[in-house]
Amino acid sequence: MKKNNLSDFGLIGLAVMGSNLARNVESRGFSVSVYNRSFDKTEHFLQEFKGNFKGFESLQKFVKSLNRPRKIMIMVAAGDPVDAVIQSLLPFLQKGDIIIDGGNSYYKDTQRREAALKEKGILFMGCGVSGGEEGALHGPSLMPGGSKEAWKAVKPILSKIAARDFSGGACVAHIGNDAAGHYVKMVHNGIEYAVMQFMAETYEILRTVYKLSSGDIAKIFQKYNKGKLQSFLFEIAVPVLTKKDDIDKKSPYLVYHILDKASQKGTGKWASLDALDRGVTISTITEAVFARFTSSEKDLRVSLSQMYASKKKIKAVSRKKFEKHLENALYAAMISSYAQGYHLISKTAKEEGWKIDMKEVSRIWEGGCIIRAELLHVLNQAYQKTKNRSQHLFALPSIAGIMKKNIQDLRFLVGNMSENGVSLPAFSSALYYYEYMTAAHMPANFIQGLRDYFGAHTYERDDKPGIYHTQWE
Ligand code: 6PG
Repeated sequence: MKKNNLSDFGLIGLAVMGSNLARNVESRGFSVSVYNRSFDKTEHFLQEFKGNFKGFESLQKFVKSLNRPRKIMIMVAAGDPVDAVIQSLLPFLQKGDIIIDGGNSYYKDTQRREAALKEKGILFMGCGVSGGEEGALHGPSLMPGGSKEAWKAVKPILSKIAARDFSGGACVAHIGNDAAGHYVKMVHNGIEYAVMQFMAETYEILRTVYKLSSGDIAKIFQKYNKGKLQSFLFEIAVPVLTKKDDIDKKSPYLVYHILDKASQKGTGKWASLDALDRGVTISTITEAVFARFTSSEKDLRVSLSQMYASKKKIKAVSRKKFEKHLENALYAAMISSYAQGYHLISKTAKEEGWKIDMKEVSRIWEGGCIIRAELLHVLNQAYQKTKNRSQHLFALPSIAGIMKKNIQDLRFLVGNMSENGVSLPAFSSALYYYEYMTAAHMPANFIQGLRDYFGAHTYERDDKPGIYHTQWE
């Protein structure tokens, strides 16, 4: 906070996320300059929020109003708008100035932008921002990537505006070079998709097999939220499931009237595509993406459901017994999906030359972000005892203990509910991931034999080195 007339921080893009972030920065004692493409929004912002703000119609004046090195955060839609803002800023910037992209940008775009701006002496940071509108205003989880130099300059501000972790620390850490921050945010969103799909499958089991009302399902989420499954998403499950319907007064709950087609903005799909490119399994995240695609095929589903209508015979245990199985199964499945996401981050970090510390990632996800949960503290602590902060989650002794304790419940859930005709893409893929990743033997030997038979694709042996081909007949 320098004592001159210049602002400490600049923010471009005054939609809800941008204006809430600007207000958050200002509320921590920093002066903030704001800019929006249409000046109306800037005027409106300045009228609505009194404080240490300055607004500008001219981009040049906005840039000139900032203390050097200038710290400018861009909060505009991912893609072309980010490039357009960077291009329009460039004529006014000087060497050492910093641009922070706080949107959900595709990480390869961030790499490209960082490299191009480095040549001009401008420092570019891709910063994952999680927590939605409320988080932006009161404390998000922040995942900045970029050069150490840039991080040093923005750290005092980002540390003040971030949420708090379980020990009161700031939910922000330098994730790694160039696009490391946006990459980690992309995987965060992938995990967010998986967790929501587990919740949706849970809802469907309780709705169809146990015939519970939305209100009763809410009570179960509420109960789970007091234990090891405590999390923001379980917390908000309660208002989402119990909200009354204002339009159809005869319907007890709004959720009964929400069309069962889930949308997406693409970060889960990016994570899945990237995992496919790198040859890393994140099947649970991908199943969650696919489930959203399938949900969108509403008309086809409705017509096929008439063709395939069948009476399902329910073979389920008592609800009380099942609730315990379900809680443990959810816990094991969640950890399996985290293990997939973490493994993808660690493998990518190695390939890209980023040094990502998964203990730190777990810590900064303890607060502020959409997937914040008690479990993140468990993962944070699990890495405490190891120097290898990119180790697979299943390899950590405390996590192995949890998985061994809860996996039988996940096996039971998948078996029992599949028999009852409930679709469990996320739960079952979380189970299969665990079974395969912890198996010394997989049936891939048979696949190799078949490949060699029809295509002479060759195989390796387990008793001798070398590449082999067999004349099978
Ligand atoms: C967050 C959220 C946020 C947004 C995602 C997911 O961390 O604050 O992840 O970034 O909700 O874009 O949106 P979709 O479900 O629409 O893909």
